Amino acid sequence: MFISFNDRMDFRALSTVLVAVFGLLSCYAEAQSVVTTCQTGKYPPDPKTKVGTYVINLDLPPEQRWTELAKAKGPQIRYLIEGFKEFIADFGNASKYIIDFVDSQGANLDKTLPYPFGGELKGIAAATGINLGEVVLYNLFYEFFTVCTSIVAEDSSGKLYHARNLDFGLFMGWDVKNRTWAITERLRPLIVNLDWQRGGKTVFKSVNYAGFVGILTAIKPSLFTFSMDERFNIDGGFIGIIKWLLGDHNQRWMGFLTRDVMENATSFTEAQTKLQKTTMLAPAYFILGGNKSGEASVITRSREAALDTWPMANASKWYILETNYDHWEAPLFLDDRRTPAHKCMDKMEQKNTGFSGIFNVLSSEPMLNKLTTYTALMQVDAGTLETYIQDCKDPCTPW
Ligand SMILES: *[C@@H]1O[C@H](CO)[C@@H](O)[C@H](O)[C@H]1NC(C)=O
Ligand SMILES: *[C@@H]1O[C@H](CO)[C@@H](O)[C@H](O)[C@H]1NC(C)=O
Ligand SMILES: *[C@@H]1O[C@H](CO)[C@@H](O)[C@H](O)[C@H]1NC(C)=O
Ligand SMILES: *[C@@H]1O[C@H](CO)[C@@H](O)[C@H](O)[C@H]1NC(C)=O
Ligand SMILES: *[C@@H]1O[C@H](CO)[C@@H](O)[C@H](O)[C@H]1NC(C)=O
Repeated sequence: MFISFNDRMDFRALSTVLVAVFGLLSCYAEAQSVVTTCQTGKYPPDPKTKVGTYVINLDLPPEQRWTELAKAKGPQIRYLIEGFKEFIADFGNASKYIIDFVDSQGANLDKTLPYPFGGELKGIAAATGINLGEVVLYNLFYEFFTVCTSIVAEDSSGKLYHARNLDFGLFMGWDVKNRTWAITERLRPLIVNLDWQRGGKTVFKSVNYAGFVGILTAIKPSLFTFSMDERFNIDGGFIGIIKWLLGDHNQRWMGFLTRDVMENATSFTEAQTKLQKTTMLAPAYFILGGNKSGEASVITRSREAALDTWPMANASKWYILETNYDHWEAPLFLDDRRTPAHKCMDKMEQKNTGFSGIFNVLSSEPMLNKLTTYTALMQVDAGTLETYIQDCKDPCTPW
């Protein structure tokens, strides 16, 4: 346990801020519903939006793996963290505790994180000159604010495609004049593809925001593909974070679990089992695609374990898709990206399944919205990953 609350007031203040921050998610709702127009002809998009690739060498000591990327993107990472801090500061005096806490405990935080993460975050702090505590906080943020659409689809020949939009920054500073989300704007320049290598060979590839060492979107060529969508559950996330701060390190950060799966699992089944069983800080949806016909599932997670594993066969379609609601429940009617996504997939038809068709679906509103930072397209047999930065021009739905 790295933190000792000297008096209970500190703890209560910290709790208040966390409740305020994470409680906001319960207000997630859309002002007006969008009439979906399924887009066509969006692929390939402007080559300028295509994301470049950095190699992460897993043979290096953790402290050195991120140096090149962290140096290249240091100023943008710093700018984003400043944005997070401004966002937290909006919650008034109590929020000062989080920042003070993080700044004062920073030097010890790496010791509380499992190998190799402590070392990696230390390396990023050293390369960017950013306080270690803030690098940790930055990594923690991704556990909670990922609003998305994920799809695994099978073409007529049985090939699997896995695609996702990553929407991030809900409620983090709506800029009235520019009609943009402050955090979302700061994230786009950080998007990179990573090629994780051992012995000079690709182990897996992922899409990351520079400075974040966990995994939200990834492909292990010829084995499986993965994406994670947020599952809103205030109790889950909040209790998890408090327990972790109080020193209960038996639960894992989602980002660390998913890294472990990409690095170490060698089959769809092994990946699925690990994703079902490991206790985490917050609930989530894990979308997993395999390498053969019909092999795909959506795992609905509580903090402790899988509540449900929904195989593609039971989705009664040639694809399975997940946004941010349990598949057995109706989506919140004010935030229904599920129905429009189905509408556009059905209109596309199985015979048109491929990067082009799926990119069109994910470029249609409201799957594409002001929070969307990127669209990633993966094909497991070929081992391909293409990522495009998305920036929805007005008029566009805020989320
Ligand atoms: C915030 O802190 C300042 C000084 O630290 C104090 O004067 C002010 O009353 C506090 N505001 C609230 C709402 O507690
Ligand atoms: C709003 O957009 C303008 C022009 O793109 C830009 O210069 C300005 O910095 C933006 N404002 C904010 C607060 O991001
Ligand atoms: C799928 O994975 C299995 C092992 O898990 C392997 O035997 C098979 O060759 C893979 N299929 C393709 C198309 O790569
Ligand atoms: C992968 O497994 C190796 C060997 O067990 C372990 O040292 C490493 O930390 C694991 N990777 C992650 C990200 O957990
Ligand atoms: C899939 O559907 C079948 C038939 O309705 C059902 O018996 C089975 O329990 C379902 N499996 C899962 C994992 O939902």
